[in-house]
Amino acid sequence: MSINFISEISPQQFKLNQNLLRARLLRLLRLLKQEGRTVSVVFLDDKEMARYNQTYRHKEGPTNVLSFPAEVADELGDILVSADTAWREAGEKGVTLHQHLTWLLIHGLLHLLGYDHELSEAEAERMQDKEAELYQAVQHIHSGGAMPQLAVNVDHIATIREARGGAEPDPVLAAGICELAGARGIVVHLREDRRHIQERDVRVLRQTVKTRLNLEMAAVKEIVEIALDVKPDLVTLVPEKRQELTTEGGLDILGNEKKIRKTIGKMSEAGIPVSLFIDPDLEQVKAAVEVGAAYVELHTGRYADAKDHEEQEREFRLIEQAAEAAYAAGLRVNAGHGLNYLNVGRVAGLPVIEELSIGHALIARAAFVGLEQAVREMQNCIDLAG
Ligand code: PXP
Repeated sequence: MSINFISEISPQQFKLNQNLLRARLLRLLRLLKQEGRTVSVVFLDDKEMARYNQTYRHKEGPTNVLSFPAEVADELGDILVSADTAWREAGEKGVTLHQHLTWLLIHGLLHLLGYDHELSEAEAERMQDKEAELYQAVQHIHSGGAMPQLAVNVDHIATIREARGGAEPDPVLAAGICELAGARGIVVHLREDRRHIQERDVRVLRQTVKTRLNLEMAAVKEIVEIALDVKPDLVTLVPEKRQELTTEGGLDILGNEKKIRKTIGKMSEAGIPVSLFIDPDLEQVKAAVEVGAAYVELHTGRYADAKDHEEQEREFRLIEQAAEAAYAAGLRVNAGHGLNYLNVGRVAGLPVIEELSIGHALIARAAFVGLEQAVREMQNCIDLAG
């Protein structure tokens, strides 16, 4: 069985997670007992799709998906998908691009196998039922192996140290233990009021962290200069208020565009990629692309703090949509805030998220079971989401 993906759209326009679509397509072929047959999927823009629609169906304008059965037995055929129409329809339906693409691939596959909703009402119903059944079976398939990585925020180790103003516990030592237990990144927030992490911690961590050092910071002159000197692997810009207990909301990029653009410019001259910590809001995603961010970190706090199931579902959908929109626009996507052992799984299961930044819940658990065990347990929750 082989699957060919051909993309005739610009990667700047839409970034498609081909690993995810391939994994789902493989399972679909198996469910449809079509192992051993080849299928080709071609992603086009609306203009090109309109040309095919006119030539082969004598219909004007683009459509979402067209199927062309093959004439040789070991080939199933070609499925053409307009990424422009898929994107538009996903927005109208309130689903993510990859969810809708999954539907379109199922629809295209069923056409290749002889289903035709245009034949009769009964046939349309049969096709719809089959689509729903197949969608149920593949919707949770992840891209396979590429689970988000765990980045541990060690600020609260420093919070305990600062409670007595001494040297212990040491966030640098904590970072080493987290890495040995499997964490793929270390995060610290150097706040202007230095309530936990100190400048020295960041400098020593730069020397000792073997994975990736992500420095959270406000876009203010003093901290920008420290970051330019220390050169972390990633800078995450966050809004910062002195009175807050923890970072409360995401950045308002539009309201701070000049400052953020300037900071991104300085960091990129020094070769430091910048992530913007934003609420899961499509306007902020768009603004992040416009100011030239490399990453966004989606604020999961409202999902984590939801009071009931309905609110949690609503907030999760927002994260899912923002993650897909950011990914499709070419941004890399991280997420974090308020994640714990119970709520991390759903976010970890989103196919486009690279890294989860987790602090409070993990450090709190470490007080009871030790830091190494707390990291391993969190890693396990993330892996189970796959
Ligand atoms: N991401 C950002 C940008 C944060 O400010 C924080 C809190 O320091 C986190 C992630 C981690 O949040 P928590 O401590 O709730 O896991």
